Parts: sequence; structure tokens; C-alpha cells
Amino acid sequence: MGRLLGKVALISGGARGQGAEEARLFIQEGAKVVFTDILDEEGKKIEAELNELGGEARYMHLDVTDESQWDLVVSKIVEIYGKIDILVNNAGILIEKGVEETSEEEWDRIQNVNSKGVFLGIKSVLPPMKNAGSGSIVNISSVAGLIGSAYAAYGASKGAVRLLTKSTAVQYGPAGIRCNSVHPGIIETDMTENMLSDPEIAEQRLQNTPLGTFAVASDVAYAVLYLASDESRYVTGSELVIDGGLTAK
Ligand SMILES: NC(=O)c1ccc[n+]([C@@H]2O[C@H](COP(=O)([O-])OP(=O)(O)OC[C@H]3O[C@@H](n4cnc5c(N)ncnc54)[C@H](O)[C@@H]3O)[C@@H](O)[C@H]2O)c1
Repeated sequence: MGRLLGKVALISGGARGQGAEEARLFIQEGAKVVFTDILDEEGKKIEAELNELGGEARYMHLDVTDESQWDLVVSKIVEIYGKIDILVNNAGILIEKGVEETSEEEWDRIQNVNSKGVFLGIKSVLPPMKNAGSGSIVNISSVAGLIGSAYAAYGASKGAVRLLTKSTAVQYGPAGIRCNSVHPGIIETDMTENMLSDPEIAEQRLQNTPLGTFAVASDVAYAVLYLASDESRYVTGSELVIDGGLTAK
């Protein structure tokens, strides 16, 4: 308890899955949390649930591909709380296709959400973080951003996040702003429901994972909590891999 006491956090894609779990954990650790999504109904439900825990959570609509929506949300947060200490760029989509099966429209869509969305998020919080002389940005990439996978456009979008993270860390370290990426393996959420509903694929993925199980959202949320908190004050530009040993082979 209290690992984020006094901190103000913004989490994108927080209406379900890992983002909602991160919001829950951050509230339990004393942060004030604004979480955003395009799924407004789900977001409002999570907001009510989190506020029942006794915390201060606010849901706001934010499509991560739209710069004006980022600017609006960030200015509202600064108006309400006076600062933003933490940004978690969590929103993402998956398209389970290889190079030849992927259309140009699908390529653009996934880069827009997974890669441009992270760029816009970082850009929008830099002014308040620079003013404060501190901040922690956590970008959710994937093991697919580290090694090749069957999902071409997804891997490319997550690889972009890995290096944008390092550029941000290098450029804004002197301003007191840290930026790290998190690389989950297979987490059981809505995103992987379709993939894991195929018993053959699920079994093959399990065989590839030394720990022999898939992760749950809280496995990633605890890693994000560490990077968001001052416990990681000397950590920037790093890659935290949460994959049950998948990429260790
Ligand atoms: N589930 C996994 O196995 C896995 C593995 C590695 C990385 N990831 C990454 O973790 C993050 C969270 O995924 P999850 O597993 O919780 O999946 P999820 O589908 O449950 O959650 C993703 C959230 O992002 C939101 N979102 C999608 N497009 C958006 C947009 N344009 N603007 C705002 N929000 C948008 C969705 O509405 C959803 O709430 C994603 O970036 C994903 O790529 C997931």
C-alpha cells in the first residue's frame, strides 16, 4: 500500500484487460487515476467499481489516434490535479495476420493505434512533466516487439514502441523524465481470446513457455507499477520482459 501515494496517473485503454487491472492496482497503491478508452460503457462501469474501493478514479473518453483528444484529456487532468506524474500507454489492438494476408488499411490501422497512439501520448504529457521536472512513462510493447512472430503488422508496431521508448528516455532523461517499455508474453485477456480458443495454437504457445502457463493481467500490472513508482528512479530506456521465459530460449 502507498507505493504511488500522491501520484497522478493517466492510463490509456483502461476500460478492460491489463489497463483496467493497472488502474485497480494504482488506486490500491494510493494514486489518483484517470483512465481512458473508446469503450465508454465499460469504462464507466470500471470507474464505479474503483471508486467503491475508496480511491479516486475518473474515466474519460480518449481515442489514442487523435492528438486533439490527448491534448483535451491532459489539459483537464492538469486543471483538476495540477500535474501528471505517470503515463501508461497501454491501449492496443491485435491483427492476427502475416505479411501477405495484411491489407494496407489493416497495416495503417494497427500502426495508428499501437505506434502513433504511443507517440501522441508521450508528446501530450511532456509539457506538464517538463514543468514538474519529473515523470514516468511506461509503454506497453510486447514480446512481438522483441522477436519475430506470425503477426507482421502487430510486431512492427510494437517494435516501433520499443525504440520510441529509448529515444524518449535519451532525450528527456536530463529533464527528469523516465521512459521504459514492458514486453508481455501471452496474457489471458479479450485480446487473446480468439487466438487461445484454438486448442492447437494454445497448446503450441504453452509448449513454448518455460513456466508452462499463460499470464494474467496482474502479472503485467505489477511490473508497470514498479516502473511507474519512484522505486525505479534510476531505470530508464529499459525493457521489462514478462513472458514466462518465452524469449529466453
Ligand atoms: N494480451 C496479450 O497477450 C498481450 C501481450 C503483449 C502485449 N499486449 C499489449 O497489452 C496492451 C493491453 O492489451 P490487453 O491484453 O489488455 O487487451 P484488451 O483488448 O483487453 O485491451 C486493450 C484496450 O485498448 C483499447 N483500445 C483499442 N483501440 C483504442 C483506441 N484507438 N483508443 C483508445 N483505446 C483503444 C480497447 O478498447 C481495450 O480496452 C495492448 O497494448 C496489447 O497490445 C497484450
